[in-house]
Amino acid sequence: MGFAARKLTERTGTEIHTDPATLLQAATAQEIRRLLQERGVLVFPRINLTDEQQVELAGLIGTVRKEGEKGIHKITLDVRENAQADYLKGSFNWHLDGTHDDVPVFASLLSGRRLSATGGQTEFTSTYAAYETLPDAMKARIAGLKMAHSVPVSMKRGGVEATPKNVEYWNGLPDKVHNLVWTHSDGRKSLVIGCHASHVVGIDRAESDALLEELLAWATQPQFIYRHEWTVGDMLIWNNTGVLHRAEPYPLDSGRMMHRTTLMGEEAFA
Ligand code: OGA
Ligand code: MN
Repeated sequence: MGFAARKLTERTGTEIHTDPATLLQAATAQEIRRLLQERGVLVFPRINLTDEQQVELAGLIGTVRKEGEKGIHKITLDVRENAQADYLKGSFNWHLDGTHDDVPVFASLLSGRRLSATGGQTEFTSTYAAYETLPDAMKARIAGLKMAHSVPVSMKRGGVEATPKNVEYWNGLPDKVHNLVWTHSDGRKSLVIGCHASHVVGIDRAESDALLEELLAWATQPQFIYRHEWTVGDMLIWNNTGVLHRAEPYPLDSGRMMHRTTLMGEEAFA
């Protein structure tokens, strides 16, 4: 079948048509890594990987995080399948995964196993493009600013109930301060914003709120977004260090089930 790639939008998203055997070759995995850095999100329509193939591919691209059953973490709002299902309601707002860490996860692979009849599509926008396209005056204004990130703030914004069990979980995920503009090891710059961004350190709160709103609105302009409309068997990989993502809300009892494999972070916020 080979390997064919095509851009989905100008700034982010590439669709790849290939087959599992080709994908699981080391040379292909290196090409995937390169495309991930360049394009932020990769889409493999109806590739239908098994859990084992997904974890194998992840291991060829990076270092698999130990979570869930054998590297497969179930993304579902069904509490019988995921004890922290409430936490996932936070993902209905634009976010990066792991701003509570110093080294955020590098990338995630997500396969659609069961879909919701309504909602549940996934959207992405490039935080590199968001920075690069900013007017020079805004780049000058935000240079050197520090942003505080907070899981409880993101949960509150997501309307997640502060039950004792939830609060205990959130408290295990510490508040962090990161540069608002992340200068990566290759010199490229991206914005570190999202629903977990609480406030800019050392400036007036109203000014901070307005700035955050402006930057998030900039980054999520319709022409910057790739929206994935799922078909069962699709797999996505996103470069979590270079895109914001969000899931469109879906009903609690929709049965939506995604299988995620996460790659350990390789680069600290800087
Ligand atoms: C995630 C996430 C989005 C989705 O797994 O980190 O945000 O569409 N998932 O399920
Ligand atoms: Mn997420």
